[in-house]
Amino acid sequence: MDRYAVIGHPIAHSKSPRIHAAFARQTGQDISYEALLAPIDGFAAAVAAFRAAGGRGVNVTVPFKLDAHALANRLSARARAAGAVNTLVFDGDDIFGDNTDGAGLVRDLTVNLDCDIADRRVLLLGAGGAARGVLLPLIDARPATLTLANRRADKARELCAACPPRAGVALDAGGLGEPGGLAGRQFDIVINATSASLAAEVPDLPAGIYAPGALAYDMMYGAGDTAYMIAARAAGATRLADGLGMLVEQAAESFALWRGMRPETTVLLAELRDEMEQH
Ligand code: ATR
Repeated sequence: MDRYAVIGHPIAHSKSPRIHAAFARQTGQDISYEALLAPIDGFAAAVAAFRAAGGRGVNVTVPFKLDAHALANRLSARARAAGAVNTLVFDGDDIFGDNTDGAGLVRDLTVNLDCDIADRRVLLLGAGGAARGVLLPLIDARPATLTLANRRADKARELCAACPPRAGVALDAGGLGEPGGLAGRQFDIVINATSASLAAEVPDLPAGIYAPGALAYDMMYGAGDTAYMIAARAAGATRLADGLGMLVEQAAESFALWRGMRPETTVLLAELRDEMEQH
Protein backbone atom coordinates (compact mmCIF):
# COMPACT_ATOMS: atom_id res chain seq x y z
CA MET A 1 0.00 0.00 0.00
CA ASP A 2 1.48 3.40 -0.97
CA ARG A 3 1.80 5.80 1.95
CA TYR A 4 1.11 9.54 1.93
CA ALA A 5 0.85 12.12 4.70
CA VAL A 6 0.35 15.75 5.56
CA ILE A 7 3.14 17.31 7.65
CA GLY A 8 2.59 20.42 9.74
CA HIS A 9 2.81 21.96 13.19
CA PRO A 10 0.12 21.92 14.50
CA ILE A 11 -1.60 19.20 12.49
CA ALA A 12 -4.37 17.68 14.64
CA HIS A 13 -7.16 19.71 13.01
CA SER A 14 -6.08 19.11 9.41
CA LYS A 15 -8.90 18.02 7.12
CA SER A 16 -6.44 16.51 4.62
CA PRO A 17 -6.57 12.89 5.95
CA ARG A 18 -10.37 12.98 5.72
CA ILE A 19 -10.23 14.46 2.19
CA HIS A 20 -7.63 12.05 0.80
CA ALA A 21 -9.33 9.01 2.37
CA ALA A 22 -12.51 10.02 0.52
CA PHE A 23 -10.56 10.48 -2.76
CA ALA A 24 -8.92 7.05 -2.33
CA ARG A 25 -12.29 5.33 -1.70
CA GLN A 26 -13.89 7.08 -4.65
CA THR A 27 -11.11 6.24 -7.12
CA GLY A 28 -10.44 2.74 -5.75
CA GLN A 29 -6.80 3.59 -5.00
CA ASP A 30 -5.24 1.45 -2.26
CA ILE A 31 -3.31 4.14 -0.34
CA SER A 32 -2.90 5.27 3.25
CA TYR A 33 -2.77 8.93 4.28
CA GLU A 34 -1.83 10.11 7.75
CA ALA A 35 -1.22 13.33 9.66
CA LEU A 36 2.37 13.83 10.86
CA LEU A 37 3.34 16.37 13.50
CA ALA A 38 6.94 17.52 12.95
CA PRO A 39 8.92 19.63 15.43
CA ILE A 40 9.31 23.23 14.22
CA ASP A 41 13.00 22.62 13.39
CA GLY A 42 12.48 19.01 12.30
CA PHE A 43 10.81 19.11 8.88
CA ALA A 44 13.66 17.56 6.85
CA ALA A 45 14.16 14.79 9.44
CA ALA A 46 10.42 14.00 9.46
CA VAL A 47 10.41 13.76 5.65
CA ALA A 48 13.53 11.56 5.65
CA ALA A 49 11.95 9.18 8.17
CA PHE A 50 8.70 9.01 6.20
CA ARG A 51 10.56 8.31 2.93
CA ALA A 52 12.67 5.62 4.62
CA ALA A 53 9.41 4.00 5.79
CA GLY A 54 8.12 3.86 2.21
CA GLY A 55 6.34 7.22 1.92
CA ARG A 56 5.55 8.21 -1.68
CA GLY A 57 4.58 11.82 -1.13
CA VAL A 58 3.45 14.44 1.37
CA ASN A 59 1.32 17.52 1.61
CA VAL A 60 3.01 20.31 3.50
CA THR A 61 1.24 22.89 5.60
CA VAL A 62 2.06 25.71 8.03
CA PRO A 63 4.86 26.42 8.91
CA PHE A 64 6.86 24.18 6.57
CA LYS A 65 6.06 25.33 3.00
CA LEU A 66 9.39 27.19 2.72
CA ASP A 67 11.32 24.23 4.18
CA ALA A 68 9.67 21.97 1.58
CA HIS A 69 10.68 24.41 -1.16
CA ALA A 70 14.30 24.21 0.07
CA LEU A 71 14.21 20.42 0.38
CA ALA A 72 12.99 19.65 -3.15
CA ASN A 73 15.67 18.96 -5.75
CA ARG A 74 13.22 19.75 -8.59
CA LEU A 75 10.46 22.36 -8.59
CA SER A 76 7.45 23.06 -10.81
CA ALA A 77 7.22 26.55 -12.33
CA ARG A 78 4.27 27.37 -10.09
CA ALA A 79 6.18 26.26 -6.96
CA ARG A 80 9.13 28.41 -8.03
CA ALA A 81 6.85 31.41 -8.53
CA ALA A 82 5.11 30.75 -5.21
CA GLY A 83 8.44 30.43 -3.39
CA ALA A 84 6.69 27.70 -1.42
CA VAL A 85 5.78 24.04 -1.80
CA ASN A 86 2.63 22.31 -0.54
CA THR A 87 3.14 18.94 -2.28
CA LEU A 88 6.21 16.70 -2.45
CA VAL A 89 6.50 13.63 -4.66
CA PHE A 90 9.17 11.02 -3.82
CA ASP A 91 10.61 8.82 -6.54
CA GLY A 92 13.84 7.04 -5.66
CA ASP A 93 16.33 9.80 -4.79
CA ASP A 94 14.20 12.43 -6.50
CA ILE A 95 12.13 14.91 -4.46
CA PHE A 96 9.81 16.92 -6.69
CA GLY A 97 8.17 20.01 -5.18
CA ASP A 98 4.94 21.49 -6.48
CA ASN A 99 2.39 24.00 -5.27
CA THR A 100 -1.27 23.19 -5.94
CA ASP A 101 -2.81 26.09 -3.97
CA GLY A 102 -3.22 28.42 -6.95
CA ALA A 103 -4.64 25.72 -9.20
CA GLY A 104 -7.06 24.87 -6.37
CA LEU A 105 -8.19 28.49 -6.14
CA VAL A 106 -8.61 28.85 -9.91
CA ARG A 107 -10.58 25.60 -10.16
CA ASP A 108 -12.83 26.57 -7.23
CA LEU A 109 -13.55 29.92 -8.87
CA THR A 110 -14.08 28.71 -12.42
CA VAL A 111 -15.69 25.28 -11.89
CA ASN A 112 -17.38 25.18 -8.45
CA LEU A 113 -18.41 28.83 -8.43
CA ASP A 114 -18.84 29.14 -12.20
CA CYS A 115 -16.98 32.46 -12.10
CA ASP A 116 -14.86 33.16 -15.19
CA ILE A 117 -11.50 34.80 -14.56
CA ALA A 118 -10.60 35.38 -18.22
CA ASP A 119 -11.02 39.06 -19.20
CA ARG A 120 -12.26 40.03 -15.73
CA ARG A 121 -10.87 42.63 -13.35
CA VAL A 122 -9.30 40.83 -10.36
CA LEU A 123 -8.15 42.36 -7.08
CA LEU A 124 -5.86 40.27 -4.86
CA LEU A 125 -5.61 41.52 -1.27
CA GLY A 126 -2.39 40.77 0.63
CA ALA A 127 1.24 40.21 -0.34
CA GLY A 128 2.31 37.45 2.05
CA GLY A 129 2.77 33.75 1.41
CA ALA A 130 -0.91 33.10 0.71
CA ALA A 131 -1.03 35.74 -2.05
CA ARG A 132 2.29 34.75 -3.58
CA GLY A 133 1.22 31.09 -3.57
CA VAL A 134 -1.66 31.68 -5.99
CA LEU A 135 -0.15 34.34 -8.24
CA LEU A 136 1.07 32.34 -11.25
CA PRO A 137 -2.10 30.25 -11.80
CA LEU A 138 -4.17 33.44 -11.40
CA ILE A 139 -2.14 35.24 -14.08
CA ASP A 140 -2.30 32.16 -16.30
CA ALA A 141 -6.11 32.31 -16.09
CA ARG A 142 -5.74 35.55 -18.14
CA PRO A 143 -7.72 38.18 -16.27
CA ALA A 144 -7.95 41.56 -18.08
CA THR A 145 -6.32 43.17 -15.04
CA LEU A 146 -4.75 41.83 -11.87
CA THR A 147 -4.28 44.35 -9.08
CA LEU A 148 -2.26 43.53 -5.97
CA ALA A 149 -3.13 45.62 -2.92
CA ASN A 150 -1.49 45.30 0.46
CA ARG A 151 -1.44 47.25 3.71
CA ARG A 152 2.30 47.77 3.14
CA ALA A 153 2.43 49.04 -0.45
CA ASP A 154 6.13 48.19 -0.94
CA LYS A 155 5.43 44.47 -0.47
CA ALA A 156 2.65 44.53 -3.09
CA ARG A 157 4.91 46.38 -5.54
CA GLU A 158 7.76 43.94 -4.94
CA LEU A 159 5.47 40.97 -5.60
CA CYS A 160 4.09 42.62 -8.73
CA ALA A 161 7.59 43.32 -10.05
CA ALA A 162 8.45 39.62 -9.63
CA CYS A 163 5.35 38.52 -11.62
CA PRO A 164 6.07 37.00 -15.00
CA PRO A 165 4.47 39.17 -17.70
CA ARG A 166 1.58 37.71 -19.68
CA ALA A 167 0.26 39.18 -22.93
CA GLY A 168 -3.13 40.77 -22.37
CA VAL A 169 -2.91 40.81 -18.56
CA ALA A 170 -2.38 44.28 -17.08
CA LEU A 171 -0.70 44.09 -13.67
CA ASP A 172 -0.57 46.83 -11.08
CA ALA A 173 0.05 47.12 -7.36
CA GLY A 174 -0.38 49.55 -4.52
CA GLY A 175 -1.20 50.13 -0.89
CA LEU A 176 -4.56 49.70 0.80
CA GLY A 177 -5.76 53.18 1.65
CA GLU A 178 -3.05 54.81 -0.49
CA PRO A 179 -4.19 58.14 -1.98
CA GLY A 180 -5.08 57.61 -5.65
CA GLY A 181 -5.05 53.84 -5.07
CA LEU A 182 -8.19 51.74 -5.29
CA ALA A 183 -10.68 54.59 -4.84
CA GLY A 184 -12.95 54.97 -7.87
CA ARG A 185 -12.02 51.58 -9.33
CA GLN A 186 -14.27 48.52 -9.65
CA PHE A 187 -13.46 44.80 -9.70
CA ASP A 188 -15.34 41.66 -10.78
CA ILE A 189 -13.45 39.32 -8.42
CA VAL A 190 -11.92 40.36 -5.10
CA ILE A 191 -9.80 37.72 -3.33
CA ASN A 192 -8.80 38.13 0.30
CA ALA A 193 -5.38 36.51 0.77
CA THR A 194 -4.51 38.51 3.89
CA SER A 195 -4.34 36.96 7.34
CA ALA A 196 -6.56 39.76 8.71
CA SER A 197 -9.41 37.32 9.50
CA LEU A 198 -7.20 35.56 12.05
CA ALA A 199 -7.45 38.73 14.14
CA ALA A 200 -11.13 39.19 13.18
CA GLU A 201 -10.06 42.19 11.12
CA VAL A 202 -10.81 43.04 7.49
CA PRO A 203 -8.68 44.83 4.89
CA ASP A 204 -9.59 48.48 4.64
CA LEU A 205 -11.22 49.00 1.21
CA PRO A 206 -12.80 52.12 -0.31
CA ALA A 207 -16.56 52.15 -1.01
CA GLY A 208 -17.78 51.06 -4.42
CA ILE A 209 -15.03 48.62 -5.43
CA TYR A 210 -17.43 45.72 -6.06
CA ALA A 211 -18.72 45.84 -9.65
CA PRO A 212 -22.34 44.72 -10.16
CA GLY A 213 -22.43 40.92 -9.73
CA ALA A 214 -18.89 40.85 -8.30
CA LEU A 215 -17.62 37.87 -6.33
CA ALA A 216 -15.94 38.44 -2.96
CA TYR A 217 -13.75 35.42 -2.14
CA ASP A 218 -12.02 34.75 1.19
CA MET A 219 -9.18 32.21 1.12
CA MET A 220 -9.95 31.56 4.82
CA TYR A 221 -12.92 29.40 5.77
CA GLY A 222 -14.92 28.46 8.81
CA ALA A 223 -18.45 27.81 10.01
CA GLY A 224 -20.63 30.66 8.78
CA ASP A 225 -19.42 33.71 6.89
CA THR A 226 -15.91 35.02 7.57
CA ALA A 227 -15.34 38.59 8.77
CA TYR A 228 -14.27 39.55 5.24
CA MET A 229 -17.41 38.05 3.67
CA ILE A 230 -19.63 39.94 6.12
CA ALA A 231 -17.82 43.21 5.34
CA ALA A 232 -17.97 42.54 1.58
CA ARG A 233 -21.73 41.91 1.69
CA ALA A 234 -22.24 45.16 3.60
CA ALA A 235 -20.12 46.90 0.92
CA GLY A 236 -22.36 45.66 -1.90
CA ALA A 237 -20.84 42.35 -3.04
CA THR A 238 -23.67 40.03 -4.07
CA ARG A 239 -21.67 36.82 -4.50
CA LEU A 240 -19.60 35.52 -1.59
CA ALA A 241 -17.42 32.44 -1.05
CA ASP A 242 -14.94 31.16 1.49
CA GLY A 243 -11.84 29.02 0.89
CA LEU A 244 -13.22 25.56 1.70
CA GLY A 245 -13.55 24.80 -2.01
CA MET A 246 -9.94 25.86 -2.56
CA LEU A 247 -8.85 23.47 0.22
CA VAL A 248 -10.61 20.53 -1.44
CA GLU A 249 -9.43 21.44 -4.94
CA GLN A 250 -5.75 21.85 -3.97
CA ALA A 251 -6.02 18.39 -2.38
CA ALA A 252 -7.55 16.97 -5.58
CA GLU A 253 -4.70 18.49 -7.57
CA SER A 254 -2.11 16.89 -5.23
CA PHE A 255 -3.92 13.53 -5.47
CA ALA A 256 -3.85 13.79 -9.27
CA LEU A 257 -0.12 14.50 -9.17
CA TRP A 258 0.53 11.41 -7.04
CA ARG A 259 -1.95 8.96 -8.54
CA GLY A 260 -2.46 10.17 -12.12
CA MET A 261 -6.22 10.56 -11.70
CA ARG A 262 -8.34 13.49 -10.62
CA PRO A 263 -11.06 12.75 -8.05
CA GLU A 264 -14.54 14.22 -8.19
CA THR A 265 -14.99 16.91 -5.52
CA THR A 266 -18.62 18.11 -5.51
CA VAL A 267 -20.09 15.57 -3.09
CA LEU A 268 -17.15 15.74 -0.66
CA LEU A 269 -17.23 19.53 -0.63
CA ALA A 270 -20.95 19.50 0.26
CA GLU A 271 -20.31 16.94 3.02
CA LEU A 272 -17.47 18.98 4.54
CA ARG A 273 -19.62 22.09 4.42
CA ASP A 274 -22.46 20.31 6.26
CA GLU A 275 -20.10 18.92 8.90
CA MET A 276 -18.57 22.33 9.46
CA GLU A 277 -21.92 24.08 9.86
CA GLN A 278 -23.04 21.43 12.38
CA HIS A 279 -20.06 21.89 14.73
P1 ATR B 1 0.23 34.50 4.82
O1 ATR B 1 1.29 33.47 4.65
O2 ATR B 1 -1.04 34.00 5.43
O3 ATR B 1 -0.01 35.30 3.60
P2 ATR B 1 1.95 36.52 5.93
O4 ATR B 1 3.02 36.16 4.97
O5 ATR B 1 2.28 36.79 7.35
O6 ATR B 1 0.81 35.43 5.99
O7 ATR B 1 1.17 37.76 5.32
C1 ATR B 1 0.04 38.29 5.95
C2 ATR B 1 -0.65 39.22 4.97
O8 ATR B 1 -1.88 39.67 5.53
C3 ATR B 1 0.18 40.46 4.66
O9 ATR B 1 -0.12 40.84 3.34
C4 ATR B 1 -0.38 41.48 5.68
O10 ATR B 1 -0.22 42.81 5.30
P3 ATR B 1 1.20 43.57 5.62
O11 ATR B 1 2.20 43.02 4.67
O12 ATR B 1 0.91 45.00 5.34
O13 ATR B 1 1.50 43.28 7.06
C5 ATR B 1 -1.83 41.10 5.62
N1 ATR B 1 -2.62 41.55 6.80
C6 ATR B 1 -2.59 41.05 8.04
N2 ATR B 1 -3.48 41.69 8.83
C7 ATR B 1 -4.08 42.63 8.06
C8 ATR B 1 -5.11 43.60 8.28
N3 ATR B 1 -5.68 43.76 9.49
N4 ATR B 1 -5.48 44.38 7.23
C9 ATR B 1 -4.92 44.23 6.03
N5 ATR B 1 -3.95 43.34 5.76
C10 ATR B 1 -3.54 42.54 6.75
